[in-house]
Amino acid sequence: MRILAIDTSCDETAAAVVEGRRVLSNVIYSQILIHKKWGGVVPSLAKRAHEEKIDFVIKEATKNFRQFDAVAVTQGPGLAVALEVGIKKAKELAKEYHKKLISVNHLEGHIYSPFVQNSQGNPKLDFKFPYLALVISGGHTEFVIFKNHLDYEVIGSTLDDAAGEALDKAAKLLNLGYPGGPVLERLAKEVENVDNYGFPRPMLKSRDLNFSFSGLKTSFYYFLKKNPGGPVKELASSFQEAVLDTIIKKTEKAIRQTGINRLVVGGGVIANLRLRQLFRNLVNKSQGEVLFPSYKYLTGDNAAMIGVVASFKAERRVFVQDADKLDRIPRMVL
Ligand code: KG4
Ligand code: ZN
Repeated sequence: MRILAIDTSCDETAAAVVEGRRVLSNVIYSQILIHKKWGGVVPSLAKRAHEEKIDFVIKEATKNFRQFDAVAVTQGPGLAVALEVGIKKAKELAKEYHKKLISVNHLEGHIYSPFVQNSQGNPKLDFKFPYLALVISGGHTEFVIFKNHLDYEVIGSTLDDAAGEALDKAAKLLNLGYPGGPVLERLAKEVENVDNYGFPRPMLKSRDLNFSFSGLKTSFYYFLKKNPGGPVKELASSFQEAVLDTIIKKTEKAIRQTGINRLVVGGGVIANLRLRQLFRNLVNKSQGEVLFPSYKYLTGDNAAMIGVVASFKAERRVFVQDADKLDRIPRMVL
């Protein structure tokens, strides 16, 4: 079954054509340059850019794959005005071509992203449930037991800022631009990931698996205010270490509590090679394993991962019953 998938949940306009887990085509129009000068995503600008680009992105994705059997679209979570653009387009296409519509939770997409294959069917790995699935992005920090296909139990999430959001805000305080994650990673690497400042690791004492990064951000803010002109690379590196160390320690706790030592990790922040190494070190301690998206584009937002989830839904005949009634759910949960 061939699926045309669309994601407009935040600041990328994305379309892909997939067959099962194989991605036949994938197009992403990133709005980063539009939002950069505002230091974050501006909803009204995101909406307009999605509206301007969506037809082009779909046309490119379907250029060599005109035929498809179903249309998949992200229903949430995300920016309401952005989600709406993709959903409206998906409904139009499903109607025009008399195809079934499949709605997908964006977080499911990130959870499945390590299993997404290229057009040749690589990587070939099989599913070995259950997994401890982590979504670490600009909008989410979620710990989930991935029990079986389309079967999830959320066991922890952030109470305020997401991990990527914390990195972005710290970078902004250091005047390093947006998005901040990649810049912090680069600067930290230049000073070998030193941690000279020991910024707080929030919520490590609590028994649960929730996160709270806003306190770390605030303490960083006051530190910079009291100590202006500090060495930027060391500060960037120490902040990044505080965020990554918090994630790793919480993951260690999650492995202990659930007894699951096979991890899948998705989301923009897992583009970070330092974090990947820390995860590998962690699972080695328990003879576990960790899977990451095999291609960089699969870490950030994309429609390929949405299409792959939709394939598993289609196999189980989970379609939208009344397409006219499909509506965005900005705070959709798993
Ligand atoms: O998944 P994503 O593209 O969008 C959301 O759904 O949120 O994630 C974007 C986030 C941003 O916060 C960005 O700073 C972060 O991922 N990010 C990184 C890296 N590349 C992107 N964080 C750390 N290291 C990176 N290399
Ligand atoms: Zn995302």
